[in-house]
Amino acid sequence: MKRVLTYRTFDLLHYGHIRLLKRAKELGDYLIVGLSTDEFNEIKHKKSYHNYETRKIMLEAIRYVDLVIPENSWDQKINDVIDYHVDTVVMGSDWKGSDKFEYLSEYCQLKYLDRTQGVSTSMIKKELGLHNPVSGVFQLPEERKNEKIGVE
Ligand code: CTP
Repeated sequence: MKRVLTYRTFDLLHYGHIRLLKRAKELGDYLIVGLSTDEFNEIKHKKSYHNYETRKIMLEAIRYVDLVIPENSWDQKINDVIDYHVDTVVMGSDWKGSDKFEYLSEYCQLKYLDRTQGVSTSMIKKELGLHNPVSGVFQLPEERKNEKIGVE
């Protein structure tokens, strides 16, 4: 079985994300998404609209995605490739030439996929006036909310 891994935030899911995930899955049989946690996004000076749990639930509902794992830091990638027996790491072409992923080519295949033109999370946020959300949203289904706060 060929395993593919990609990383990123996937906030406010849009067509560019779906196209990326579809093409990533087509490179193998099993697609893992390393989803940036809210804490890691703070380090990257990003704040997502949907929190990690919500973004995870939405990604898990996409047919191309087999597993979602947390992306907590820049330096976890080699361990992820080894631990999850990854054959190919796929990133959007916006990361091409960056030293954040290039070294992974010693451990697995590394592929960059072209971005879809005309859409991005930042663009959606800007157009909807969400670029500076006060607190984002917390939209877990009732049963998950109870799990989180320990209610029986
Ligand atoms: N992506 C893509 N085409 C787009 C937007 C994103 O192929 N139009 C890809 C990115 O290259 C990345 C993945 O989708 O591999 C998730 O990207 P993410 O940064 O979460 O989404 P963006 O829309 O790029 O978010 P932002 O505007 O905040 O950078």
